[in-house]
Amino acid sequence: MKLIVTGGAGFIGSAFVRLLLAGKDSLEVIVLDKLTYAGNPDNLAPVAADPRYRFVQGDIADSVAVNELVEETQPDAIVHFAAESHVDRSILSPEPVVRTNLMGTFTLLEAARKYGVKQFLHVSTDEVYGSIPEPHDADESYPLVTSSPYSASKAGSDLLALSYYTTYKMAVCVTRASNNYGPYQFPEKLIPLMIANALEGKSLPVYGDGQQVRDWLYVDDHCRAIRAVLERGRPGEVYNIGGSRSLPNLEVVEKIIAATGRDHSLIKYVTDRPGHDRRYALTSDKITRETGWAPQVEFEAGLAATIEWYRQNTKWIERVRSGAYREYYDQNYANR
Ligand code: NAD
Ligand code: DAU
Repeated sequence: MKLIVTGGAGFIGSAFVRLLLAGKDSLEVIVLDKLTYAGNPDNLAPVAADPRYRFVQGDIADSVAVNELVEETQPDAIVHFAAESHVDRSILSPEPVVRTNLMGTFTLLEAARKYGVKQFLHVSTDEVYGSIPEPHDADESYPLVTSSPYSASKAGSDLLALSYYTTYKMAVCVTRASNNYGPYQFPEKLIPLMIANALEGKSLPVYGDGQQVRDWLYVDDHCRAIRAVLERGRPGEVYNIGGSRSLPNLEVVEKIIAATGRDHSLIKYVTDRPGHDRRYALTSDKITRETGWAPQVEFEAGLAATIEWYRQNTKWIERVRSGAYREYYDQNYANR
């Protein structure tokens, strides 16, 4: 099988590529990635010498480049991770979010249609369901009620992708995963930011009252789910992928404080995120029923492995926290 993996230099995309190439399958994996601030060739260093792997730097919203690549490589499937993925950045600056998440997805779908790519897997998020009131869990038919430019752009791209199944009979699947964590995650998201700051004894900025709830999914569990949908998903279907571990943010931060031997005084309550979704909650019954997938990594074990990875990879953290990261950090946190 020959795959184009968009966004393969990011956190989840690179974990997916490493997972695929860890096996002996006869595969060809072509990563298409623009290498934005979130894309990092170091994430793909473990597979760089694998003859089944090739890296192409390019923008998914550049139709000329995308068409050329799809025509040249004639992939069996496109697995589409590339996105502007951070809610806070989407609030500060929505333009690249709309361009990449909506126009980029459209450009890929059009190239897939033009060159007869058989399968298209669109990687999406539980954020498209918005805040879910207790005691409900969202299944795949839950209404799409989005809050941020990020989640709105993901909901729009989900619907666009599904329209290519309905209209053109392209074998599209959409996956909607809950919050991922694990090694190689850019330290702008809750868990890696709190780990990196705690390891350095810096303050831990908790938005609002810290009682917002997220369902935590270890990144390798997410990648195994995507592989299951690629192999056994039904065209035209949406699959939720949850970690079955819902926790308030403050409890996550407390666990990181305990594991890094720091003190609660590092917690700093800061102004809440505008439009902040209070609770995400999913049911993953459908993917389990149809593909047999279930999460394997328990949160405490996954968190310990993640903290250990950040402890061991201080050079990686230093490199990604470039001047641009510091600029973003000041912009997002200075006046909170
Ligand atoms: P990430 O920000 O770590 O990586 C995104 C990757 O996309 C980067 O390598 C970046 O260089 C690349 N990219 C961005 N714009 C591009 C463009 N225009 N052209 C080509 N490449 C581009 O993101 P992530 O956390 O790995 O998320 C991957 C996907 O999974 C996204 O679609 C996201 O919406 C979805 N998702 C993420 C989570 C999560 O918790 N992180 C949960 C559910 C779903
Ligand atoms: O639910 C899936 C989504 O999870 C993905 O689609 C997104 O790509 C991913 O970024 C993530 O979105 P969240 O907004 O839930 O994740 P984030 O890590 O930014 O924040 C998690 C929670 O922690 C949220 O309630 C906001 C809070 N938070 C976050 C940061 C960065 C803080 O309290 N302080 C912080 O500094």
